[in-house]
Amino acid sequence: MTRTQVGIVGAGPAGLLLAQLLHRNGIDSLVVENRRRDYVIDRVRAGVLEQGTVDLLIALGVSAGLCRAGLRHEGLHLSFGGKRHRIDLAELTGGKAITVYGQNEVVRELIDARTRTGRPLYFEADHVSVDGLDSAPVLRFEHDGAHHDVQCDFIAGCDGFHGICRPSIPEGVLTVFEREYPFGWLGVLVEAPPSSHELVYTYHERGFALFSMRSPTITRLYLQVPPDEAIGNWSDEAIWAEMLARMTTEDGWQPNVGPVLQKSVTPMRSFVAVPMRHGRLFLAGDAAHIVPPTGAKGLNLAASDVLVLAHALKSFYERGQTQCLDEYSDVCVRRVWKAQRFSWWMTSTLHRFPDDSAFDYQRQLADLDYLTSSRAAMTSLAEQYVGLPPEVSFESAGLNV
Ligand code: FAD
Ligand code: DHB
Repeated sequence: MTRTQVGIVGAGPAGLLLAQLLHRNGIDSLVVENRRRDYVIDRVRAGVLEQGTVDLLIALGVSAGLCRAGLRHEGLHLSFGGKRHRIDLAELTGGKAITVYGQNEVVRELIDARTRTGRPLYFEADHVSVDGLDSAPVLRFEHDGAHHDVQCDFIAGCDGFHGICRPSIPEGVLTVFEREYPFGWLGVLVEAPPSSHELVYTYHERGFALFSMRSPTITRLYLQVPPDEAIGNWSDEAIWAEMLARMTTEDGWQPNVGPVLQKSVTPMRSFVAVPMRHGRLFLAGDAAHIVPPTGAKGLNLAASDVLVLAHALKSFYERGQTQCLDEYSDVCVRRVWKAQRFSWWMTSTLHRFPDDSAFDYQRQLADLDYLTSSRAAMTSLAEQYVGLPPEVSFESAGLNV
């Protein structure tokens, strides 16, 4: 049996960020991931980083790529009725902005940083399991044919929505809140220069569409589709026809068309499991909560969870205090519900629901008309989109800024 202070399950953004934060504070950890390294790095997912997430990555010193290639956006567009309306995020929030940068690039840099620390990070682990959560947690897995039993002080369940940590909590402990949406997102990565400097969220009679980007040569686009849609039903031609039908505005703006490099369909759900702790197991990120992607909050919530957890573990190891560990779930869940509410609201405002009536369609247009003409409404959207203030300061999580 080997030993570590914190056993981390999952090498996504939550697990890798936590490992870096703990390392900064002299707390040892072991990270175990069931997928291949390349798979984890190549997975195309989130693209919008809140100001606080960017600041965290910079404070951690894992930001060379982000500072070089991240695209700072001080505004976004809402498009409906054939017109685009700009929301000036920076002006409405006292200078805050978001940064468009691929989650996979963030993960790549975090893996490199972890590797440089020389501390353990196992990919392609099999039969990962956790037990002894009440008093003496053990993390077990197989790697390269060898069986590992790791005695831990704590386990961080950062293994996403389909991981093993949440299901390891005994039945009856967790309360789950869930909502499924009657649609999913078809996402494509396109080799074409973005035709707008900023994101465009489109509400159209035919459904929602989103224009985003990854770099000056790569466009990222999404379409609302039925929830169980097979990607095989969508030829590249069909995707472009639908994209252009929904996104083209009266002034002729539309995305630049180019070769489709990657395409996939993601279902949409809202999900919260509370408490985010059971004994010595702490859940963080998608393992505890899922938001529909419209508000661009999932990755950012994962980052704020692990900042709170790192602060609590630091206070335990440095001063023997358990109060912050005890408060971990409540502190995170308050932010989670605000992000849930915002993501649900963005989703409901911008998507067409199958049972929408003509009344609903007009009401939604009026919502958007109000939203883009009232400074109060735009300010509310802007302050939530760029991200609410962090729960704990970077200094208290051991970061010098
Ligand atoms: P994950 O990234 O899911 O990482 C969990 C890790 O655990 C994975 O590497 C997984 O392989 C591993 N794992 C699973 N099971 C096991 C096991 N048994 N043993 C060991 N390891 C295991 N969020 C935003 O903030 N902004 C956006 O713009 C945005 N857009 C999105 C667009 C799409 C299409 C999608 C799908 C998501 C988007 N999100 C966005 C959400 C964001 O990607 C997730 O919230 C984020 O990845 C959560 O990070 P995580 O580390 O908690 O979980
Ligand atoms: C992207 C994803 C989102 O969910 C979103 O709301 C905005 C942008 C993206 O992948 O670029």
